[in-house]
Amino acid sequence: MRRVTVPLADRAYDVVVGNEAIGQLGDLIPQRTRRIAVVTQAGIPSRFRDLAEHVGERSVEVFEIGDGEANKTLGTIETLMRSFAGMGLTRDDLVVGVGGGMVTDVAGFSAASWHRGVPVVHVSTSLLGMVDAAIGGKTGVNLPEGKNLVGAYWQPSGVICDLDALDSLPPREMRCGLGEMAKYHFLTGDDLLAMDLEQRIARCVEIKAEVVASDEREGGRRALLNYGHTLAHALETATDHELAHGEAVAIGLIYAAELGFEMDRIDAARVDEHRAVVAGEYDLMTRPPDGLGIDELVALMRRDKKALDGLTFALDGPAGVEVVAGVDERPVRAALERFLA
Ligand code: GLY
Repeated sequence: MRRVTVPLADRAYDVVVGNEAIGQLGDLIPQRTRRIAVVTQAGIPSRFRDLAEHVGERSVEVFEIGDGEANKTLGTIETLMRSFAGMGLTRDDLVVGVGGGMVTDVAGFSAASWHRGVPVVHVSTSLLGMVDAAIGGKTGVNLPEGKNLVGAYWQPSGVICDLDALDSLPPREMRCGLGEMAKYHFLTGDDLLAMDLEQRIARCVEIKAEVVASDEREGGRRALLNYGHTLAHALETATDHELAHGEAVAIGLIYAAELGFEMDRIDAARVDEHRAVVAGEYDLMTRPPDGLGIDELVALMRRDKKALDGLTFALDGPAGVEVVAGVDERPVRAALERFLA
């Protein structure tokens, strides 16, 4: 079992990573908590949703939300809030999000908004959640106009990453987590593949924790965590979410390397290294589906949330991955043409 601290001064919190980590939940619950609202989904294994044995005398009510991006809405938040009102949840109480990234994003946003902010603890049950979504305090929901357009920064009081939850994770969700995990290979020089799963997840959390602590509200450096994400977000929209987020990130990492090469930031060997990690070591898809148009993808990339100044990418280079704004459209198109050919 490992504990990684997200070092945010008076809001620092621990992420517990390991088999049977759920047994540590009691340690992460703020002392004054009397009642707990669990936000979860129907398919989550009962040993992670039935929290009574870990929370002492506190009372627990469980609220299920629907599955998938279509339920990541303000409507779901309103339904949850009305349930919180029904149980009389106060600022001295706690929300616990139990599930993958969608659940912890929704649980986090409901906690951020209820009575202008109540504590939240996340029990992450997906690989993607453990290495990314549950850590760092980004919460939110979608609008018909786009993903995660409404949200808040709301740091949890603690996060549980119980590796036992991964035993029953569907292969596709596992691949999605691997897509995000592959990203961390390029943010540091670490040989993550030499580590066992617990070490590797804990290291990904540590890398993310360090970046988040240096730029909590994404004034700059935190956008590094979006390496591979500019094309990924465009692919998710262009395929109407046929491609899941982690799958799109795997493809987006290769495109980011191709673009870095097109802009003379990295050499061909470094592009090959990206392919070797993403396609070879992690065995992930590296080509987008057929039939996507360059104009559409460029237009979607221009609308990316981190694009404050034209096309913006996190790009590898001599000084490592950096955020590059105002990227000229020519290399973006040239790299896309090569990539889609
Ligand atoms: N998923 C990227 C971030 O948390 O900043």
